[in-house]
Amino acid sequence: GIKKKEVKILILGLNNSGKSTIVNHLKSEEDKVLNIVPTVGLNVEKFKYHNVGFTAFDMSGHGKYRDLWEHYYRESEGIIFVIDSSDTLRIAVVRDELDILLQHPDIVTRRIPILFFANKMDLRDSLSTVKIATILGLERIEDKPWHICASNALNGEGLQEGSEWFTQAIC
Ligand code: GTP
Repeated sequence: GIKKKEVKILILGLNNSGKSTIVNHLKSEEDKVLNIVPTVGLNVEKFKYHNVGFTAFDMSGHGKYRDLWEHYYRESEGIIFVIDSSDTLRIAVVRDELDILLQHPDIVTRRIPILFFANKMDLRDSLSTVKIATILGLERIEDKPWHICASNALNGEGLQEGSEWFTQAIC
């Protein structure tokens, strides 16, 4: 198809899952911010990856801001959903958040690609991508292209594999 030059994407996930760290890794060197502070509400970042301009809305993982994120659902052409694979206590919360997202009227009928990063794979006791896919019930997503990829946002491992899939799926 025709390659898009600018795409709007959403970066979602619970607080502390690694969203800001991932965005920071995807941005070019000169854009990198040195210190990442916890996001309050919403962070808008623009960066180029493989010649595609991305506008990323990095949503704070705090549910109280959900009303704020929903405004961006309609105009987004893809979703990156970040999961802390070592946070086994909150994986049920992740599933609930994913259910809410997938049932949203501005998401449910649209064939937009979803990339799942099973982040923090470097930590001991982190869940495998297969395990996470099972717990989250990803197989039920039949109307949207999706992909799950293990990542370590601290050293960048896995981010390229995921981003390449995403860029292909979105353009
Ligand atoms: P909110 O802004 O609160 O929603 O958090 P966030 O999802 O943007 O997470 P952030 O990028 O701020 O990362 C949270 C913490 O996890 C930071 O201390 C990061 O350094 C750390 N972190 C992120 N990715 C990884 C990873 O792959 N492995 C490990 N060990 N730590 C990570």
